[in-house]
Amino acid sequence: MRVVVGISGGIAAYKAALAIRELVQAGHDVHVVPTASALRFIGRPTLEALSRNPVTDEVFDDVAAVRHVALGQSADLIVVLPATANTLAKLATGLADDLLGTTVLASRAPLVLAPAMHTEMWEQPAVQANVRTLVERGATIVGPVAGALTGGDTGLGRMAEPTDVVAAALAAAGAAQQPGALAGRTVVVSAGGTREPIDPVRFLGNRSSGAMGAELAAAARAAGASVTLVGANLHVPAPEGVELVEVETTEQLRTAMLERADADVVVMAAAVADYRVEGASDEKRTKEAWGERPTLTLALNPDILAELARAPRRSLLVGFGAETEPDDDALVQRGRDKLARKGADLLVLNRVGHDEGFGRVDTRVRVLDADGVVADASGTKASVARVIIDTVAQRLAAASEEHQ
Ligand code: CTP
Repeated sequence: MRVVVGISGGIAAYKAALAIRELVQAGHDVHVVPTASALRFIGRPTLEALSRNPVTDEVFDDVAAVRHVALGQSADLIVVLPATANTLAKLATGLADDLLGTTVLASRAPLVLAPAMHTEMWEQPAVQANVRTLVERGATIVGPVAGALTGGDTGLGRMAEPTDVVAAALAAAGAAQQPGALAGRTVVVSAGGTREPIDPVRFLGNRSSGAMGAELAAAARAAGASVTLVGANLHVPAPEGVELVEVETTEQLRTAMLERADADVVVMAAAVADYRVEGASDEKRTKEAWGERPTLTLALNPDILAELARAPRRSLLVGFGAETEPDDDALVQRGRDKLARKGADLLVLNRVGHDEGFGRVDTRVRVLDADGVVADASGTKASVARVIIDTVAQRLAAASEEHQ
C-alpha cells in the first residue's frame, strides 16, 4: 500500500520516524511529506533513510512530475503525525500553501491525524471546531492522550504512541490491524438498550442501537480476543467471529453479564433501563383495563456495572457514561464521579442529546480512569472503538507486567 506520512512542526515530529519504520517494515511504500517547520525538528536524511524514498517539502521541486497531485492521487492512506494546531487549522480550511496541504487536497485516500499540542491549545474552541470539521468530513483522529508534555507539564495533548497511530491508520485504510494485542484474552461486551415489558406487546425502552458496542466487539476480536457480545435488542448485526447472546430485559442482561463476570475484560456499553414496570401484566391490557388516565409504577433496577465491580474475580471493567452536560470541565467531573460511584476501572464518556450521541455516525469520547482523561478519540464509531480497545489492551499489558 502507498502511504503518505505527513509530519508537521511539533516536538513529537521525531516520533514520526518510528511510525515510518514500522510502516516500511510492514511492506508499505512510504512517502514522507514534512512541513517546512517539521524539518526544523527532524532531518531530511533520517526521513529519506527510513522511508527509502526522496523527501521534499517543496511544491516547486520536480514540477514536471506535478508532485502533489501524483502523491495525493496515488496514496492509499495519508497519516499526519504529529498534527499541530496550525496543520489542523490548515487542513480544516483546505489551505494549499505547502506540499502537505496540496497533497491532502489532491487525494481521496483515508486521512488519519494524530494531534499533539499543549492541553490549553487542544482545548481551545478554535482547535476543537477544526477537529469537528475534519471528523465530519471523514478524517480519523487518533489521540491525543494524557501524559508528559514538553516543558515539564503533564496533561492531555501528548501524541498517541506511534504504533497506535499506525494501527489506527492501517485499520482506517482497511488493512489488517496489528494482531494480537488481546490474543488469549476473553472480552464480554454488553450493547443495545434493555426493554422493560408493560404487557406482552408493550415495553419501555430507549434509542440505543448497539452500534458502539458492536464496534467494540469487532475491535476486540480484531485484536485477537475471544469475544462475547451480550446484545439487548440490537439494531445492528453482530460482527463476524463474535459469540452473540441475545437478551431483552435488564434482568436477563444482568444474569448474562454476571455469568460471564470472570472474563478478562467486561465492557458495559448497553443503555440499561434504570427502572422496570412494577406489576407488568401477562396479558395484553385493554383500554378498558387501563382506564382514562393510567399510571405506571416503576421500580429501580439493579446497577449491573456496580454489581460487576463487586464480583469476586475482578475483570478490567469498563463503563460508559452518556451525559448531556454542555460544559467540558463539568462533563469530565461528572464522569469521574460516576467512575468512582460505580467502581469501574475505566469510563468512556460521551455527550448525548441535541446532535450528538445516539445513532450518529461520528462520535467523540473521552476515556477516564481515576486520575482523569487518559484518551480522547473522535471519528467514526469503528475508529473510536479501536482507541478504546487499545487503551484496554495497554492496561492489561501493564497489569500483567506488574504481576511478573
Ligand atoms: N448501568 C448498569 N446498570 C444500570 C444502569 C446503568 O450497569 N441499571 C451501566 C451502563 O451500562 C453504563 C453505566 O452504568 O456503563 C452508566 O450508565 P448511566 O445511565 O450513564 O448511569 P446511571 O447510573 O444511570 O447514572 P445517572 O442516571 O445518574 O446519570
